[in-house]
Amino acid sequence: MKVSIIAAESLNNVIGVDGELPWKVPADMRYFMKKTTGHHIIMGRKTYEEGGINKPLPRRVNIIVTRQKDWAAGGCIVVHSLEEALKVAEDGGEQEAFIIGGEEIYRLALKKDVVDKIYLTQIEVRIPDGDAFFPVLDRDIWERTAYHRYPSSDENPYAYAFREYEKK
Ligand SMILES: NC(=O)c1ccc[n+]([C@@H]2O[C@H](COP(=O)([O-])OP(=O)(O)OC[C@H]3O[C@@H](n4cnc5c(N)ncnc54)[C@H](OP(=O)(O)O)[C@@H]3O)[C@@H](O)[C@H]2O)c1
Repeated sequence: MKVSIIAAESLNNVIGVDGELPWKVPADMRYFMKKTTGHHIIMGRKTYEEGGINKPLPRRVNIIVTRQKDWAAGGCIVVHSLEEALKVAEDGGEQEAFIIGGEEIYRLALKKDVVDKIYLTQIEVRIPDGDAFFPVLDRDIWERTAYHRYPSSDENPYAYAFREYEKK
């Protein structure tokens, strides 16, 4: 099973403010939906509960990681470690599991070296008051293998680039 991270960051690596995404870029939401639909998605409890999701994303197996033994969310699988989350996906016959955030879970996955691929959209805006960040990638380990940039438009207020990183 391949393990991928999917995230969107600002020019200064911000991924969240006050528990939420600090921008609305529908093209990136569609990209996220297209990549993850039909797959197991793994997220931290805060992203689920505070990040405006709060209900399982449809047509995906939603796995939530928490240390709270009595925490539950309807329609989601709740686990207590990243390893457990990956085992659920693997046992479910998954080909590509997606780690969808937030900062703590991205850091954990990169530290544990379980990630094969990173889909990291760059939103071309600076967010001065960010409080959640995407980890700086070690360029000795990760190389950019795809880059597709699109200009801002009526629908998407900032230019954005779909980037992919794989291990060298
Ligand atoms: N831009 C993007 O692509 C993107 C994507 C996702 C999220 N976000 C943003 O990221 C922010 C949330 O990130 P965050 O770092 O605050 O929270 P998070 O990573 O979503 O969740 C953290 C929680 O995960 C659980 N957890 C962490 N490590 C664990 C471990 N080793 N074992 C078991 N459980 C563990 C804990 O839950 P308990 O406290 O319940 O124990 C912890 O509080 C929000 O602003 C959200 O909007 C952005």
